[in-house]
Amino acid sequence: MATIEPLAGRLLYCRPGFERECAQELETVAAAAGASGFARAAADSGLAEYVLHDTAAQAALDAAAGWRGLAFARQSLGLLARVRGLDPQDRLGPLLDALRARGEVYADVWIEHADSDAGRELAGLCRSFAPVLRAALRRERLLGDDAPRRLHLCFASGTDALLAAEPPARAAPWPGGIPRLRFPRGAPSRSTLKLEEALLVLLDDAERARWLTPGMRAVDLGAAPGGWTWQMVRRSIRVIAVDNGPMDAALMDSGLVEHRREDGFRYRPAKPVDWLLCDMVEQPRRIAALMAQWFAEDRCRMALFNLKLPMKKRYDEVRLCLGLLRDAGLRDLRAKQLYHDREEITVFARRG
Ligand SMILES: C[S@@+](CC[C@H](N)C(=O)[O-])C[C@H]1O[C@@H](n2cnc3c(N)ncnc32)[C@H](O)[C@@H]1O
Repeated sequence: MATIEPLAGRLLYCRPGFERECAQELETVAAAAGASGFARAAADSGLAEYVLHDTAAQAALDAAAGWRGLAFARQSLGLLARVRGLDPQDRLGPLLDALRARGEVYADVWIEHADSDAGRELAGLCRSFAPVLRAALRRERLLGDDAPRRLHLCFASGTDALLAAEPPARAAPWPGGIPRLRFPRGAPSRSTLKLEEALLVLLDDAERARWLTPGMRAVDLGAAPGGWTWQMVRRSIRVIAVDNGPMDAALMDSGLVEHRREDGFRYRPAKPVDWLLCDMVEQPRRIAALMAQWFAEDRCRMALFNLKLPMKKRYDEVRLCLGLLRDAGLRDLRAKQLYHDREEITVFARRG
């Protein structure tokens, strides 16, 4: 017999192994929004929840815990219910009961699973269940083009599902919060996908059009073999690539790259540049301090950099680094653990 537990709060998808950081971030954001509740997240599940004690705080929590503002969340959704003990012969019945009880009409429905090992085994179930649920929602008149929120059904296992909803404009626009990018032909390293995803996730269409234009200039610290530099060069942006290691020969043939075999912590360009990129493997607080210095010296307008997080207290380290950057006067800070990031996050910074 399935049990339906109506819930208020948030549901987050994250990289498996980072549930604790996701929960810590949720608790911090919820406390700042004046919400009272608790975070829960099973290790390696790829999911984290914040459950509200008082549903009156839902709107404040929704506003504070949107996908864009959370560093460790790939997706952030308003939590509706948990349905446990689903019968594999009739999963639809109890899910429809839960949705009928709410009576909300949704703009669309996505059937998803976590990015964990167990979650990925549910991909087939998600695919086959999608048309079944969609048809049932139509029949029940619970789908309507003008509705404000999209419904997300996330299978936590074959018998356990979470129901959530979010306005599409506030949510990550990819199922599972994962942008599927194809490795571009000619790019020198897989890291190129990290910068491509960063530009896609951390900037919007208008910003990409305004801030990535031919003739701009960039410095790439820790550039070799050139995956990040390649993303700039494909946009006709000139790059000073700083690294003792060798740069990709074809990339150098573009004529847009100057390779400097220097220490990335000491190098400074003669003239200010539009972009500072940095993918050096170093202590995050050293990288954050270096970025702050470049802005303080007016050497760049915008920066995109990675903070590597091999330590235990990863969330504390991220807070410390972002605090350091904020104290340096950077008001526009956007941090995200991208799908292509492993033990690291990527940060966009601008004075704002
Ligand atoms: C993760 S790799 C960069 C990959 C590069 N973003 C790409 O897309 O191909 C890190 C690079 O940082 C360089 N590096 C580390 N410390 C450095 C330093 N102090 N100065 C310059 N480069 C450094 C290493 O030589 C290495 O090539």
